[in-house]
Amino acid sequence: MKKIFIIDDDYEIKYLFLKAFEGFAEPEFAGTLREAEEKLKNKKFDLIFLDVKLPDGDGIKLLEKIAGRDKTPVCVITGYGTTELIVRAMKTGACDFLEKPLNKEKIRIVAESILNRVEKEEIIERLASEIRREIPFIGKSGIYKEILRKIEIFSKSASPVLITGETGVGKDVVARLLHYTGNRRNFPFQHVNCASIPGELLESELFGFRKGAFTGAYRDKKGKFELADKGSLFLNEICDMPEGLQAKILDVIENKEIFPLGSEKGVKVDVRIISATNKDIEKKVKKGNFRKDLYYRLNVLRLHIPPLRERREDIEPIATYYLRKFCEENNKPYYEFSKSALEFLLNYDFPGNIRELKNIIEKLVAIKQQGRIITGEELKMVIEGQDTAEKDAEIKPLKEAIKDFRRNYILDVLKKSGGNITLTAKKLGIHRVHLQRLLREINFEKDKK
Ligand SMILES: Nc1ncnc2c1ncn2[C@@H]1O[C@H](COP(=O)(O)OP(=O)(O)OP(=O)(O)O)[C@@H](O)[C@H]1O
Ligand SMILES: [Mg+2]
Repeated sequence: MKKIFIIDDDYEIKYLFLKAFEGFAEPEFAGTLREAEEKLKNKKFDLIFLDVKLPDGDGIKLLEKIAGRDKTPVCVITGYGTTELIVRAMKTGACDFLEKPLNKEKIRIVAESILNRVEKEEIIERLASEIRREIPFIGKSGIYKEILRKIEIFSKSASPVLITGETGVGKDVVARLLHYTGNRRNFPFQHVNCASIPGELLESELFGFRKGAFTGAYRDKKGKFELADKGSLFLNEICDMPEGLQAKILDVIENKEIFPLGSEKGVKVDVRIISATNKDIEKKVKKGNFRKDLYYRLNVLRLHIPPLRERREDIEPIATYYLRKFCEENNKPYYEFSKSALEFLLNYDFPGNIRELKNIIEKLVAIKQQGRIITGEELKMVIEGQDTAEKDAEIKPLKEAIKDFRRNYILDVLKKSGGNITLTAKKLGIHRVHLQRLLREINFEKDKK
């Protein structure tokens, strides 16, 4: 229940407030400035109603003090037609006013509207602080807005969320936003990448161990589940979780209890699980490569992030954001995209999604030498440059390519000849002994691989 403080000496008004807040808030009262100050010393309120004319002085003075101290909203109660006074009160920091004569509906409506307003401001402030935490999440498309809406709804729940989407679409970002905008934000956010830690290590990373659990366990170590208590645990690349561990994770989710390695005693944990993958997890489940029961447990709330090419409206705001950011970081003047550069970006498919877009912009800022306008040519150069870099990686030296071809060709002819060496040698036009030597080499190469 909301805590509301009414500072007024009129008994009739006190009665109206009591009636107005029945079942909605717990009102407290003070009839003089002195009494009010005394109560304000020991207690915090969600909302204060203040009469500007009190037996022991001017209410505006008290308003000044409250406004200078914290952000508790104060609504002044004034007589009818006292516009000047209202203006003075608002300038001093009142958030609203209530004009006499009063009735309980009027009181209730004004109180609710102030409290709603405060709540909205708090949400905005919280989101702004996330941006200060450097979790930029930019966009303007309908899909982007839908993702934001889901983040807002899901962040209020403790149920598991599964985030899916191609590489670079922002799954990590969304996982963090879910935690830092939710009611667990004052507790830890722990992150585990299931793909980058080998199986046995992953287990101790998640559940921790007790001193002496194995050679080298010199002291207790808390696992991520314990470290994330009351907060969130982000299981990234969940499809790479080894089969045996999948069963254990399922156990923890169902029983809310973990068993550190080397301990018989369980530890109760309250953890919100957020998992993510860029693989087709449904396909993995169908093929039997991922436990169905765990999948159902993780997929209670689903947040799919579509690729950038399906929400092209987001390209420009994201590109502009990073262009400014990298210019600032590199002490460069603010660059701008030319029309053709922008057009090129809007038509490009971004297989690496937002990560790729960000990298492209970073490179552009780094290579730019003259002028402030980024041309279509410069952009093309950077994008095609990354293509050739990728293709270069596929190109082998001639010697290796010839070897590959010779091996495949010989094995192919051997297969077509039913494994008969004499026949194969004949077809290839070489001596049987020569072929045997080549086959030994091929086998040796194979063993090396
Ligand atoms: N909407 C966005 N606005 C600004 N930056 C974003 C946005 N979405 C993602 N990014 C940035 O793009 C990069 C890739 O995002 P992220 O690491 O979250 O992708 P991912 O989906 O987890 O990729 P992967 O599947 O490869 O792990 C990060 O640098 C991130 O900050
Ligand atoms: Mg990721």
